[in-house]
Amino acid sequence: MSKWNEFLEGARGAALEAGQMLRSGMDEGREISYKGVVDLVTNFDHQAQELVFDRLATAFPGHGFLAEEGLSRKAQAEFRWVFDPLDGTTNFAHRFPVFTVSIALEHQGRVILGVVYDPMRNEMFQAVKGEGAFLNGRRVRVSAVDDLNRSLLATGFPYDLRESPVNNIAHFNHFLIRAQAIRRCGSAAMDLCYVACGRFDGFWELKLKPWDHAAGALFVREAGGRVSDFEGGEFEISSQESLASNGLIHEAMIHVLGLAKERESGGEKE
Ligand code: IPD
Ligand code: CA
Ligand code: CA
Repeated sequence: MSKWNEFLEGARGAALEAGQMLRSGMDEGREISYKGVVDLVTNFDHQAQELVFDRLATAFPGHGFLAEEGLSRKAQAEFRWVFDPLDGTTNFAHRFPVFTVSIALEHQGRVILGVVYDPMRNEMFQAVKGEGAFLNGRRVRVSAVDDLNRSLLATGFPYDLRESPVNNIAHFNHFLIRAQAIRRCGSAAMDLCYVACGRFDGFWELKLKPWDHAAGALFVREAGGRVSDFEGGEFEISSQESLASNGLIHEAMIHVLGLAKERESGGEKE
């Protein structure tokens, strides 16, 4: 049994319940409002957040919270839950059945456990630091692909891509002609879980928020993969650059991510 079993069970229960509510919500009407030109939010984001917060705050009253829809409580608490109640909002709003509930727990500022639940496929991804990565109770590992040409990659784009030049389009173009193929699922938490269980070989994205990648990044590491910034430096959940892979193609991905920077600074290298 895990050292953090009580917290793990709490996270699993909340993710399952919120996920089931979202799955039933797929067939219902939804209210959509806009945070930006393409950045939307639905009433289900808020309902899922309330549900997860209620379950965890009731079970663990002293804990802190950080979640996407404006939830921030007791930031200095010893334990803090960092969660995205609905990762894949654009998909959900369009009834494209790819989205997750992503919940991580920090202890003294370090992520110690993560749970990502995909209610449409009933897949529960969970990891506790130092205890391995599990999908529906079965241990998982990253892939053994060691050649970028044979790699299936995943990425996503920031909501400010129309306004900001730091928008991932150059990186995407560089990878498109160097990888086997690229997928854009629309849930960064799911992308990371898929790297961890070998469905993807690598993933990169810019400007993710702590709730997008806190649980998934731990899951990748616990499955034997590597997570860093775009230059191979240390990854924090506050990082603006997320690079995750099976470890074997990591250096090749760092090289490709460097190409856009070299262009910007007038370098020639390909
Ligand atoms: C988004 C998804 C998407 C990623 C975006 C995220 P949301 O989260 O994870 O895959 O490309 O950057 O913001 O808004 O659906 O919770
Ligand atoms: Ca998200
Ligand atoms: Ca979200």
